Amino acid sequence: MSVDLRTRYLGLELKHPIVASASPLTSSIDSLKRLQDAGIAAVVLKSLFEEEVEHEEMSAHNLLEYGTELSPEAQGFFPEMQYSTGPDKYLQLIAEAKRALSVPVIASLNGYTPGGWTRIAREFQEAGADAIELNVYFLAASIDDTSAEVEQRYVDLVRSVTRQVSIPVAVKVAPYFSAMANMAARLTQAGAKGLVLFNRFLQPDILLDELEVAPHLVLSTSDELRLALRWIAILRGRIDASLAATGGAHTPDDVLKLLLAGADCVMLASSLLQKGPTHVGTLVRGVQAWMAEREYDSVAQLKGSLSQQSCPDPDAFERANYMKALRSYTSEFV
Ligand SMILES: Cc1cc2nc3c(=O)[nH]c(=O)nc-3n(C[C@H](O)[C@H](O)[C@H](O)COP(=O)(O)O)c2cc1C
Repeated sequence: MSVDLRTRYLGLELKHPIVASASPLTSSIDSLKRLQDAGIAAVVLKSLFEEEVEHEEMSAHNLLEYGTELSPEAQGFFPEMQYSTGPDKYLQLIAEAKRALSVPVIASLNGYTPGGWTRIAREFQEAGADAIELNVYFLAASIDDTSAEVEQRYVDLVRSVTRQVSIPVAVKVAPYFSAMANMAARLTQAGAKGLVLFNRFLQPDILLDELEVAPHLVLSTSDELRLALRWIAILRGRIDASLAATGGAHTPDDVLKLLLAGADCVMLASSLLQKGPTHVGTLVRGVQAWMAEREYDSVAQLKGSLSQQSCPDPDAFERANYMKALRSYTSEFV
């Protein structure tokens, strides 16, 4: 039995739901081509960071200032100099990826302030990106910042990017909001056409030998999947936006669970970094085999069939089973 694996994400038609998340594997044309050869349905390019745009703008600014001190004509040597190598290289990556690939190319912008740098989004569009993923990486560490202010900052940032472009913008956020569902709705009202759940912050560690604080990057395991699973299940059908799952998808079962919860697509970084691009084929075949065995015709039929709205036990995604789960835990020491 043939299974129709097609899905729609951000209005883009994907041949199946497996997408390469932003990672070093999506940072060069060579590895992007390998992902496409392995059958990936779409790619999210590694991010361009706000700091890179700001840094380059500052460098250009300093150069101009310095130049004008030397000679009044000096400015003429630097016409139209807005962004230097960081953004330029990134725009080149988008354009080359579009030329080299037939699958959708999503460019990724990573930042935390709604400043002038967000106009780079328009250049992403002009370079040919099919969509933009806006990764808002911001840790509210100041004791003066209230949750309302922090949330507003997200909304303003999303609005300032979505106003620049006509291509769809998805927002990748972390799960650390007191009222995640409300926040999701506000982000879509601000113009987001999709949510990517969830951003995975790097947690710093302390190196005991060096007595230093260092970033600690560990790849995910399937155990992390349940955070996105719960929120996708809760949000499916409640907000007018595509939902992408990221974090902990490693096996065909992981992908199937996220689709049943209501994900439109499942994004992969760790599993592709560990197993290489050919892992895409293993996942697609595994998903297809499971669906055929259970006589599902299409991903559309499967998608969201265990979301909170469709689930026979909607409480399972909220608090009720928390108590049961804790009370039923046993150990030889209890
Ligand atoms: C080495 C590495 C680099 C990453 N770079 C980016 C990036 O540039 N932008 C971004 O939004 N996410 C980035 N991520 C996060 C991934 O896109 C993904 O959301 C996260 O790793 C969770 O998915 P996973 O469990 O499949 O790894 C990176 C992850 C890793 C491991």
